Amino acid sequence: MTADPALTADLELVLVVDFGAQYAQLIARRVREARCYSEIVPHSITAEQVRAKGAKAIILSGGPASVYSDGAPSIDPGIFELGIPVLGICYGFQAMAQVLGGKVAHTGGSEFGRTDLVVSEPDSTIFAGSPAQQEVWMSHGDAVTESPPGFRVTGSTKGAPVAAFENTERRLFGVQYHPEVLHSTYGQHALEAFLHDGAGLRADWTMDAVVDTQVEQIREQVGDAHVICALSGGVDSAVAAALVRRAIGDQLHCVLVDHGLMRKGEVEQVKRDFEAATGARLRVIDASERFLADLAGVTDPEQKRKTIGADFIRIFEDAEREILDEVRHEGGRVGFLVQGTLYPDVVESGGGEGAANIKSHHNVGGLPEDLQFELIEPLRTLFKDEVRRVGIELGLPEELVWRQPFPGPGLALRIIGEITRERLEILREADQIVRDELTAAGLDRQIWQCPVVLLGDVRSVGVQGDGRTYGHPVVLRPVTSEDAMTADWARLPYDVLARVSNRITNEVREINRVTLDITSKPPGTIEWE
Ligand code: XMP
Repeated sequence: MTADPALTADLELVLVVDFGAQYAQLIARRVREARCYSEIVPHSITAEQVRAKGAKAIILSGGPASVYSDGAPSIDPGIFELGIPVLGICYGFQAMAQVLGGKVAHTGGSEFGRTDLVVSEPDSTIFAGSPAQQEVWMSHGDAVTESPPGFRVTGSTKGAPVAAFENTERRLFGVQYHPEVLHSTYGQHALEAFLHDGAGLRADWTMDAVVDTQVEQIREQVGDAHVICALSGGVDSAVAAALVRRAIGDQLHCVLVDHGLMRKGEVEQVKRDFEAATGARLRVIDASERFLADLAGVTDPEQKRKTIGADFIRIFEDAEREILDEVRHEGGRVGFLVQGTLYPDVVESGGGEGAANIKSHHNVGGLPEDLQFELIEPLRTLFKDEVRRVGIELGLPEELVWRQPFPGPGLALRIIGEITRERLEILREADQIVRDELTAAGLDRQIWQCPVVLLGDVRSVGVQGDGRTYGHPVVLRPVTSEDAMTADWARLPYDVLARVSNRITNEVREINRVTLDITSKPPGTIEWE
């Protein structure tokens, strides 16, 4: 899944071969953490294609299957003959053993979860400099029972006598466990040993290099045309805009549609921070009246999302038209839209080999049919943590770069029942208290996000002062997560919860109950709607 040929031309490429489980992305991220550039490719890739890509190392990922099952994903044996260093992991390790003449069998010694690995060859490439006994994360039913000819066994576990092997002459290595997960204590050490010692790769993937190359490339792509970017207030669009701004200055026009569903003070803060850091002007379009009018009486979650989506497009188009007119008036031309697409989006949408930039914009109502913008997607090669580092590199403030994810439809997803101005005000106050207290407790980076949900259609009896109350409950939904695909409820300290509860019920008159959501995802989603 080539993300960006021009950007990657001078880099040493590590291919991560995807065997169809969820491991490939995490491996690719860990390789990037080792400062090597990685791309994910399907296991159907041929030796010839690998050679053509100029790969300098290959990692075979874990997979869901047994190498013996029908339709088990296979690998072109020619790949091992290219002279390119290979590291096989889990399923990839077994596939490698099988292709190279070792034996894999269903031994009954399956292991899932934490296991102790005993290193039998402390001077081996992968284990040199790490302890003789280490905790690793396993997930296997089959096991390699015999290593291929020419390989030496370098480590074993209870259920896997051959848990690691290597052939340093051919620069082929393998481990049964998952070095990419944090539970494997020396996993990153093993990956780096493979990349830097086994494969001899430089550590040349750095964010300042990304900025330089992207700036150059955007300049070349855009020429003297003008570019429009919609900011959402989130990290991705802000970093994408800042990169493009660095490349083309005032040819970039930034728009933020304020739908009236942002958190307290958020629009003002984004505008202030973004303008101060980049020198660009951010046009904020206050469209809250229109959004709230269209949302009146709407209680169905899907209908809320649709209403917001439709309004957003219309209002953004109005802004586009305005910018087009201005630019035209000065004799210029608008040719591009910026999008904050990240590498996981590229991988999950099936790659987009070569399809980099030529998508047309949604049909722009009221404009000539043939007026289409090209996309600029300067973050296409990057994972989220890399986007944050690029943001810091570009001088964006920490608050913006480390902002927790916030959904496009904003607080609309966090009010159960009809969205009214009054309910939004109530939720904003409660949400602000939660944010303040989490920040004060130093918990912002440990928590993925903490939606506060107002149960607008629920009231319960309470007592405050001398009087009976009949107020709304709010739900706190603090979660930890790596990618929002799965999540766990965050174990917030009781004293933080106590302070939050106390402050909300004291300071927000309409709320008389604070509850905590202790559901993981799955089965619960992070947002309530
Ligand atoms: P769920 O609720 O599906 O959320 O567990 C996963 C992540 O996606 C965000 N989210 C949304 N983002 N539009 C968005 O832009 C949406 O409609 C939407 N729904 C959920 C959510 O905040 C979490 O980070």
